[in-house]
Amino acid sequence: LERTFSIIKPDATRRNLTGKINAKFEEAGLRIIAQKRIHLTKAQAGEFYKVHASRPFYDELCEFMASAPIVAQVLEGEGAILKNREVMGATNPADAAPGTIRAEFAESVGENSVHGSDAPDTAKEEIAYFFSGLELVG
Ligand code: GTP
Ligand code: MG
Repeated sequence: LERTFSIIKPDATRRNLTGKINAKFEEAGLRIIAQKRIHLTKAQAGEFYKVHASRPFYDELCEFMASAPIVAQVLEGEGAILKNREVMGATNPADAAPGTIRAEFAESVGENSVHGSDAPDTAKEEIAYFFSGLELVG
């Protein structure tokens, strides 16, 4: 089974949407095999999103990710990386398909409720950044 890394972002934890978002994952056959609530510093958010360092929204993104707690998760299932991207919906909620997390809950292209790894190599790297092997309970 494949594993992917997920974050429930500050806009969603602020509105108590963790349970509703987790229900979407579980309904799609994604098992939450690790989960923790943490409050990133801006520097930690910057390290996590460093691939976007040259983008114009980078500073705003790091401020946002450090603005309230997040829920970091590992999701496991068949084709988990792609399946999670489907359940999340498009980056911009205006373009997200009906029923997706971003269509239902996201507030804007920046404050879009969830992060999900985009490929096997980034999934591996992101899981290892937040979790030790002992914390992954499949
Ligand atoms: P992630 O799963 O969070 O990586 O989202 P994504 O893969 O759908 O989008 P991408 O990797 O292109 O961008 C990463 C994150 O940067 C997005 O999820 C948004 O939170 C933020 N972001 C992307 N584009 C914009 C933008 O135009 N403005 C702002 N403020 N934030 C943006
Ligand atoms: Mg991305």
